[in-house]
Amino acid sequence: MKSETIVVLGAGVIGLDVALALAEKGLAKYTTIIAEHLPGDTSVNYTSPWAGANFSAISSSDEKALRWDKIGYKYLLRLAAQNGTRAFVQETPSTEYWDDMPSQEKLNSMADYLKDFCIIPKTDLPEGVAFGVTFTTVTLNAPMHIGYLIEKLHLDYGIQVIRKKIPDIQSAFLSQDTQLVFNCTGNGARVLPGVQDSKCFPTRGQVVLARAGHVGRNVMRHGKDYETYIIPRPGSNGNVILGGFMQKGVSTHDTFKEQTESILSRTKALLPDLDSPMTEPLAVFAGLRPSREGGARVAMEEIALNFGKRKGTVVHNYGAGGTGFQAGYGMAIEAVQIAEGVLQSILHSSEGTRARL
Ligand SMILES: Cc1cc2nc3c(=O)[nH]c(=O)nc-3n(C[C@H](O)[C@H](O)[C@H](O)COP(=O)(O)OP(=O)(O)OC[C@H]3O[C@@H](n4cnc5c(N)ncnc54)[C@H](O)[C@@H]3O)c2cc1C
Ligand SMILES: *[C@@H]1O[C@H](CO)[C@@H](O)[C@H](O)[C@H]1NC(C)=O
Ligand SMILES: *[C@@H]1O[C@H](CO)[C@@H](O)[C@H](O)[C@H]1NC(C)=O
Ligand SMILES: *[C@@H]1O[C@H](CO)[C@@H](O)[C@H](O)[C@H]1NC(C)=O
Ligand SMILES: *[C@@H]1O[C@H](CO)[C@@H](O)[C@H](O)[C@H]1NC(C)=O
Repeated sequence: MKSETIVVLGAGVIGLDVALALAEKGLAKYTTIIAEHLPGDTSVNYTSPWAGANFSAISSSDEKALRWDKIGYKYLLRLAAQNGTRAFVQETPSTEYWDDMPSQEKLNSMADYLKDFCIIPKTDLPEGVAFGVTFTTVTLNAPMHIGYLIEKLHLDYGIQVIRKKIPDIQSAFLSQDTQLVFNCTGNGARVLPGVQDSKCFPTRGQVVLARAGHVGRNVMRHGKDYETYIIPRPGSNGNVILGGFMQKGVSTHDTFKEQTESILSRTKALLPDLDSPMTEPLAVFAGLRPSREGGARVAMEEIALNFGKRKGTVVHNYGAGGTGFQAGYGMAIEAVQIAEGVLQSILHSSEGTRARL
């Protein structure tokens, strides 16, 4: 079937952004999304619904990460302006503090494209903070945003969606027609036969969902060994996400009372407005960021297929760690670019087939 020519494996924000980039290139009718978990599901093995999510300076300062962030930021700003309500994305004023000076490369890059970027005078910084900036960030309602993406892909673009767990990467090649598979399996990449990337590891986070309609700003503090943040959730009737934790290699989905208390006391200290009877904790969640030593992997590989004695192309796109929402669209554009040759031949050969018939 023509719709099985391209398979996107995974329906987290990474796979959905790849499907969107394909659809924007006119490839929707050749594309199928396959995933064990889809928007609306809650599972420890599905990270995307648990995210904060805001655009922040948290990503590393290597060239790739800076590039993906910049594309992602511009895309999200555009989306907030054009269709923010439907996509659950909005512009929000943001403050970020560092206890240690961040790298100059990172600051230069941020200053270059972040809207309203401003360095806070030293005299205005809280105690123990070495550096701080304000800018306009974009915040997303993570579970609602992935719901918007799947709905847009399925209803607006007509992309086929199949719920299925794939036992190994070979099986993502659904039929003889499948030429290209995008591997967007998040934490699944660590265990999936045919991929088993030992550089992958989970980074656990715990967050508190609270009602705090009086809080309209995003605030983050990057500590030496802690991350504290407040993120308003668009389209949620005044809910905010309070965090957080970054526990490398920890993979439990359980939540802990002492971590909740730590989050509440740190966020109240960071934003005293929160310390009010109007703040009402609603729920506590934990999620596992799909992290990878050396950063995310966006790369193409040819694999020999067990059936049909031919080769298939896999484009890997996993290991987004704590930045899948902010950098996902940038990673998707690049994943699709890498496969440009194969995609062109899919477009041309399908026209050729039709001509021959
Ligand atoms: C507490 C917390 C806060 C965060 N805050 C932010 C934030 O503010 N900003 C930000 O940018 N990011 C944030 N993140 C990170 C962000 O959530 C992740 O980077 C992102 O969700 C990763 O998406 P993914 O698509 O790679 O993985 P996932 O969402 O886990 O999706 C993986 C998909 O692959 C499928 N899959 C895997 N294996 C198989 C298989 N064998 N067969 C079929 N399907 C399979 C799964 O079913 C699923 O559909 C946060 C994360 C956490 C935990
Ligand atoms: C999550 O994935 C791991 C690794 O594949 C698996 O052992 C575990 O059973 C899964 N948990 C759930 C709740 O699906
Ligand atoms: C803000 O975003 C960063 C990375 O995108 C993430 O790691 C962090 O947890 C987020 N902060 C909040 C408050 O969600
Ligand atoms: C915004 O959403 C509307 C309604 O869902 C849709 O028709 C329109 O194409 C969207 N606009 C953009 C720019 O995505
Ligand atoms: C997909 O990526 C994961 C790592 O994330 C890897 O282990 C797996 O082998 C890949 N799957 C395929 C089919 O290449």
